[in-house]
Amino acid sequence: MRGGGAAAATVVFLQFLIWALTLPSCFGGNVTYDHRGLVIGGKRRVLVSGSIHYMRSTPQMWPDLIQKSKDGGLDVIQTFVFWNLHEPVRGQYDFEGRKDLVKFVKLAGEAGLFVHLRIGPYACAEWNYGGFPLWLHFIPGIVFRTDNEPFKAEMRRFTAKIVNMMKQENLYASQGGPIILSQIENEYGNVDSAYGEGAKTYITWAAAMATALDTGVPWVMCQQSDAPNPIINTCNGFYCDQFTPNSDNKPKMWTENWSGWFSSFGDPVPYRPAEDIAFSTARFYQLGGMFLNYYMYHGGTNFGRTSGGPFITTSYDYDAPIDEYGLLRQPKWGHLKDVHKAIKLCEGALVATNPETTSLGSNLEATVYKTVSGLCAAFLANVDSQSEATLNFNRNSYHLPAWSVSILPDCKTVVLNTAKINSLATISEFVHQPSIDDSTAADAFLSGWSWIHEPIGISSDSAFTKLGLLEQINTTADQSDYLCIETEGDEPFMQDGSQTVLHADSLGHALYVFLNEELAGSTKGRNSEPKVSMDVPISLIHGRNKIDLLSLTGDYRALSIQNYGAYFDKKGAGVTGPVQLKGLRNGSTVDLSSQQWTYQPTFPKDQPLVWYKTTFDAPTGSSPVALDFTGMGKGQAWINGQSIGRYWPKYTAPDSGCTNSCNYRGSFSPSKLHLVAIMFPFVLQASENVLVLFEEMGGDPEQISLATRETGSICSHILETHPMEVDMWTTDEETRTRAGPTLSLNCPFPNQVISEIKFASFGTPHGTCGSFSHGRCSSEKALSIVQKVIVLTDSVDSI
Ligand code: GAL
Repeated sequence: MRGGGAAAATVVFLQFLIWALTLPSCFGGNVTYDHRGLVIGGKRRVLVSGSIHYMRSTPQMWPDLIQKSKDGGLDVIQTFVFWNLHEPVRGQYDFEGRKDLVKFVKLAGEAGLFVHLRIGPYACAEWNYGGFPLWLHFIPGIVFRTDNEPFKAEMRRFTAKIVNMMKQENLYASQGGPIILSQIENEYGNVDSAYGEGAKTYITWAAAMATALDTGVPWVMCQQSDAPNPIINTCNGFYCDQFTPNSDNKPKMWTENWSGWFSSFGDPVPYRPAEDIAFSTARFYQLGGMFLNYYMYHGGTNFGRTSGGPFITTSYDYDAPIDEYGLLRQPKWGHLKDVHKAIKLCEGALVATNPETTSLGSNLEATVYKTVSGLCAAFLANVDSQSEATLNFNRNSYHLPAWSVSILPDCKTVVLNTAKINSLATISEFVHQPSIDDSTAADAFLSGWSWIHEPIGISSDSAFTKLGLLEQINTTADQSDYLCIETEGDEPFMQDGSQTVLHADSLGHALYVFLNEELAGSTKGRNSEPKVSMDVPISLIHGRNKIDLLSLTGDYRALSIQNYGAYFDKKGAGVTGPVQLKGLRNGSTVDLSSQQWTYQPTFPKDQPLVWYKTTFDAPTGSSPVALDFTGMGKGQAWINGQSIGRYWPKYTAPDSGCTNSCNYRGSFSPSKLHLVAIMFPFVLQASENVLVLFEEMGGDPEQISLATRETGSICSHILETHPMEVDMWTTDEETRTRAGPTLSLNCPFPNQVISEIKFASFGTPHGTCGSFSHGRCSSEKALSIVQKVIVLTDSVDSI
């Protein structure tokens, strides 16, 4: 009997285990909505979401990114699905490796998070061609994103393909899976006026098509004020507190709260202060918002040739709460985590009732959520971008810095103010590894370079000849960044000995000119003016002359293919002319545009172009690894056969903008910028990694170095006026009154210890993390007291 009993118990235990392992851990249930939020399994929810595009990191990184999202207080992971990634050739699908959508959704579910799947299939997202496959462009009679039968048929086919994949894996919440929400189209409302009558019928069709796919969870359309029922129209932007949905039955949802901004070659890298994004988030929940998504929570990397236009960099870091390397960006991550906790402390009142907002003076607003059962949560806002304020609310006095919101989960005590950061800050840095050329380095990583020159001129069998200049995207079908075009001739077009000027106009962004296989000149556009036009003085030789133009993709705006704007697919690319010889010996101008040109839409055959190759071993340790391209010009890089993307370190940003000392007050725009190094993260094997570079402009590969991304220092800075830590919030008033602000420093990794205290002050210090200085008032003992705590605790990771 006893044996039987034990066996029975084992069986029960095992069944439980198997059950726990085979189903995602968040069982959604049916998802509906009302005017106050998404209702999941019958329960109205306040939800915080963050975008992680699975293909912008590696499967090895996914579990950690998802866990860090959960630890940061997210309930939902949002991702786009890029059509051109999954169906590069019509009818041939690819869901392997970084493209393993099912695996990513399951991992989020297993971590206990919901998923918002933005199928689009138009995505924008600074992704090549906005996510559309290039082959779509060649379907006869197709017009994208309007009431056009060939387009609608393809869009329905891909959308249904993804929905069915998710259904087969039981991934919708209605099936017990994590997906609680989908999206059809993307920001069509921003461009629909350009599509005339067809726009309305297209959007009505898209809504009906998506709804008919019967996912059991709601669909949203962002930036689409006329989104037809039952689709929820949602907001995207830096601030969405003033947004209202198009029906009293729909919840107020924010699908893209931009945590920073994307970066472009030649421009500074955007930076959005933590206080400002926290302010925008708190304002949204204050004024009735119930679902907010950070775009991006982890931005990642545009590997290969996936970045869109105009001029989008390989890094898609986005100044997001988790940086490109998967490390926490502090204090942004920690401060938002505190904001999320503060909002969740109010959830009971938020889901139960409507907000009541009153003005308490110029730019001062109080919002109260009060239920008949006695719950009460309040938000106090000072939206003035200059002046702090003291306001009276419920017979108490509250001090609010400019551009800040205080959150009061009991309508009385402030648990958080968005301008007062309790979270620690970190300074991440690149630690360079020794290179082969450093004779003092015993363990060199890069083991020497070999190289070959790319031959100049047309050489491939695939070259073809036509009269006139052809548009580039149609010619290359986006199989390459490079199109070489060549023409040659004698008099009257090419006269010997003449000093003349070659003029060329291109819709694309960069152009190299070769005369008789010698580089004659080059030019490039920039984000604000992508077209290029050049006049190059040349000396024609006696007899026959040959002109080669090497045009770099892409279309009218971009280094890569455009991803935004009405009819973005129709813009065209490359050298569309005119191409002229000006000031010939007889003073005339000859137009070469309609001459015979030979086209080679494969890899280039002419320029100062060099292929480099080397091998190296990975640095030891588990830190993310980066390659520093300082010293190189412009080109592409491959590691172990995988394209890691484009580099262009010579195209540096103007020395403008600000670092993390930017003033957070006032409306954010991406012109608040700072500068960072050009480094890419990637995954390596332990030894014999092969690095191949294709350098277009000329550079010094010996300057290339490996670096690891490390958290160098941590800082914390609090004032006596700061609220207590959100974690210490309790409903017990006495405990709350006793709890003051707490300064805490925690090492980001379990195996780390604090090795040195660089600065400590109790008084009125100035500066930001990494550059503190003492103010007029400063306790002389602060540093020694803190150092003693460290010595006393001997290798603890917090003080
Ligand atoms: C939005 C768009 C996103 C992304 C973002 C900027 O307008 O929906 O896909 O492009 O802008 O990063």
